[in-house]
Amino acid sequence: MNRKVTVVGGAGNVGATVARAIAVKELADVVVVDIAAEKAAGIALDIYEACPIDGSDTRLIGTSEYAATADSDVVVITSGVPRKPGMSRDDLLNVNYKIMQSVVEQVVKYSPNTIIVPVANPLDAMCQAVYRLSGFPRERVVGMAGVLDSARMRTFIAMELGVSVENVHAFVLGGHGDTMVPLPRFSTVAGIPLTELVAMGKLSQAKLDEICTRTANGGAEITKLVGTSAWYAPGAAAAQMVECILKDKKAIHPCSVFLQGEYGVNDLFVGVPVKLGKGGAEEIIEIRLTDDEKVAFAKSAAAVKELTTVIGV
Ligand code: NAI
Ligand code: 2OP
Repeated sequence: MNRKVTVVGGAGNVGATVARAIAVKELADVVVVDIAAEKAAGIALDIYEACPIDGSDTRLIGTSEYAATADSDVVVITSGVPRKPGMSRDDLLNVNYKIMQSVVEQVVKYSPNTIIVPVANPLDAMCQAVYRLSGFPRERVVGMAGVLDSARMRTFIAMELGVSVENVHAFVLGGHGDTMVPLPRFSTVAGIPLTELVAMGKLSQAKLDEICTRTANGGAEITKLVGTSAWYAPGAAAAQMVECILKDKKAIHPCSVFLQGEYGVNDLFVGVPVKLGKGGAEEIIEIRLTDDEKVAFAKSAAAVKELTTVIGV
């Protein structure tokens, strides 16, 4: 395969799921990097051994050495501590920042032209850390959260209305935390905005509010049930971003990017609609928000800012 994707933290739950999704879709060869070197080797081999069944010629290796990652097209960083029940994503700030410091140095050394997709939490603050540590242009650091949060919202809408998830599009912007901003006006079922479905009497306002709240609490809901944070949907979401980049799809998804004036925010990673292609975050799409939506977005950005200030990035 002429493409290479590295997954740092790839022996963990989210990373292994990303690696597996890339292999199933035959998008690239995959280097699974983890401080747990033997586990990384084992996870990579296990996924490799599934490839004959999947009909995929993806080749995988697992290691703790970064030399094997040289010239990766995309590097997904999932290395970091996950949440336990009762913990917020923000509780992970300092420990995961330390991990980022060691990881990013190695990633940049071996793949100076790569596109980095940070996944570790607290997501937007970790993106900002990666951006500062790497010195990359902003297009090449694109955080995964909005794809996941929107997928959760799509699931809840489809469940409620009894329609195919494929009919449902959802837009969740802002930081990946309790203050995230689900946008019903821009979330649609077969092209019909949720706000219109409420006006038509097909969906109650109370149900819609419940769906938005459940979306914002989506990570905590899984953490409470499973005892650690989610990995299937997060892994699928990161793999979709990798696919958009490698295939130069120009697909628009909510991603965490470094805003420089867009949405009234300066020098901060926050989730907004982004065009994903071979250059990474090729374009930031600015949609017009209502006053209420602007307030919610600003509150969410302020929550991210608090965290970046703590770690000084
Ligand atoms: P996990 O504990 O299963 O995996 C983390 C992996 O990172 C482990 O294999 C560990 O050995 C590895 N690791 C730790 N320090 C390392 C280092 N210095 N270098 C290389 N590898 C290192 O955790 P899980 O569930 O995979 O979650 C990973 C991170 O992703 C967490 O911070 C979690 O909160 C976050 N997450 C973010 C989501 C998002 O939407 N952005 C969704 C789900 C999880
Ligand atoms: C999630 O949303 C914990 O960020 C992780 O599942």
